[in-house]
Amino acid sequence: MNAPRRRLLVIDGPNLDLLGEREPGVYGAETLEAVRLRLAAAAERLGCEVSFAQSNDEGQLIELVHGAPARAEGLIINPGALAHYSYSLRDALAAVDLPVVEVHISNVFAREEFRRQLVLAPVVSGLVIGLGAEGYVLALEALARHLSRRDQGS
Ligand code: DQA
Repeated sequence: MNAPRRRLLVIDGPNLDLLGEREPGVYGAETLEAVRLRLAAAAERLGCEVSFAQSNDEGQLIELVHGAPARAEGLIINPGALAHYSYSLRDALAAVDLPVVEVHISNVFAREEFRRQLVLAPVVSGLVIGLGAEGYVLALEALARHLSRRDQGS
C-alpha cells in the first residue's frame, strides 16, 4: 500500500478573498481561486494533498488554526493585516504543534511603516515575503521538503 499523502492546509486572512480585484498594482491580478488552482497543481506534483480556508474574521481564523493539526501536517498562512497586530492569532499559532510558513504577497517592508511589524513571525517556521502569489507555491514546496526531511530524520 502507498504511504498516506502528506496533508497541507493553506489559510488566508482578511481581504484576501478580494485578490485579483483588490489593489492589483500591489497584489497582482490573480484571484484567490486561481492561486488555489496553482497550489493544487504544485501539491499534486509533490504528492501532497492541500486544502484551503479563508476568513475575514479573526476568531474564525483562530478556530481554523486550532483545528489545523487534525487536518494537516503543515500550515501555510497569509494572515493579511492581522500579521501586524494580532497577538491572539500569534498565540494560536504558538499553541499548535505544526510547521507554519507565513506568506505575504507584497513586500511589506517596502510599504507603510505599520506593515514592518510582523507579530506572528517569531512563532512561525519561516516566511516568504514580496514574491507575489508565487510565494504561496514556494511556501508549499518548502513545507513539503521540510516535512520529508523531518520524517526521514535528517
Ligand atoms: C498582505 C500584506 C498585509 O500588510 C496586508 O494587510 C494584506 C496582504 C500580503 O499578502 O502582502 O492584507 O498580507
